[in-house]
Amino acid sequence: MAHNIAVIGGDGIGPDVTAEAIKVVLAAGVDVATTDFDLGGSRYLRDGEILSDDTLDQLREFDSILLGAVGHPDVAPGVIERGLLLKMRFDLDLYINQRPFVGTAPGGDTPHDFVVVRENTEGPYVGEGGSLRTGTPQEVATQGSFNTRFGVERCIRYAFDLAQRRDRKHLTLVHKTNVLQFAGGLWERTFNEVAAEYPDVSTAYNHVDAACIYFVQDPHRYDVVVTDNLFGDILTDLGGAVSGGIGLASSANLDPTRTSPSMFEPVHGSAPDIAGQNLANPTAAILSAALMLDFLGEADAAERIRAACVEPVTGSTTDVGDAIAARVRN
Ligand code: NAI
Ligand code: MG
Repeated sequence: MAHNIAVIGGDGIGPDVTAEAIKVVLAAGVDVATTDFDLGGSRYLRDGEILSDDTLDQLREFDSILLGAVGHPDVAPGVIERGLLLKMRFDLDLYINQRPFVGTAPGGDTPHDFVVVRENTEGPYVGEGGSLRTGTPQEVATQGSFNTRFGVERCIRYAFDLAQRRDRKHLTLVHKTNVLQFAGGLWERTFNEVAAEYPDVSTAYNHVDAACIYFVQDPHRYDVVVTDNLFGDILTDLGGAVSGGIGLASSANLDPTRTSPSMFEPVHGSAPDIAGQNLANPTAAILSAALMLDFLGEADAAERIRAACVEPVTGSTTDVGDAIAARVRN
């Protein structure tokens, strides 16, 4: 049975890098049937559609979604991010954002290998708050962080399960419990309670500001990291920067209950500065497709694709895709 994949190439370099990712998946011998969805900033400028409920219902029928990148220079920031990316994460309840980091930090000499599990449906990204007297000297703005026991616990449980399956079996909670005592208290108590059910997983806690130091100076201390939506967003950019750069950073937006299709995307954006020039590195999209194959039960193909990406390839977008596809075939 072919896996049915919805492909949202998006804007800028997005369609080019997803095309290379699908090329490599097919080279790995995985049976996939793809359907393209024309969504993103360009589509929005053409006819106003960002992500309608009808389109979302069509997406629900697929086994997974592969996304390139969205974002167009002529569309105000936030419109597509909230209307498409966040809508997909919230409405499909893709509550885990998982990002692997394998690489050697600048100035380091031994490779690290860790995973960040970011809560993907709560925190400050829910959009709680508002502003009053907007644009005046008396403007007031609030933006709350929304944390539920249910949402925090399912994320923490996922992270413990993941840590238990890895060799080191180590999980670090990252938060800012010393200042954000309400949200931090909920995260810390939940973490400690769930930890009691996983005696074989060792644990640690870092404040997010300290974690920024360790990500750069001592990334080897990490195996699995679990954190909230905002801290995870920021920390994973840093994770990418110390693990070979934005051209390699991949991510999975998961519904572990498999009620909805999960969504896989490179961490980078649509890179309008290099769009249309065949210059984008498709490796992050290819590694995101490997995460997709893991989730679809094609672990062997996923492992072969990761192995084919270890030795860097230089050249155009299509050169890199062709070279990785050739390695995967052999
Ligand atoms: P960006 O990631 O698109 O680009 C940042 C820099 O990295 C640029 O110099 C770009 O040329 C380079 N770059 C990115 N991906 C690359 C690749 N695969 N190969 C070689 N170089 C690469 O971030 P930026 O410029 O902040 O955002 C551009 C647009 O993308 C904006 O509209 C933004 O909102 C959107 N965006 C979308 C994301 C998504 O779809 N998940 C994530 C981040 C940004
Ligand atoms: Mg980000």
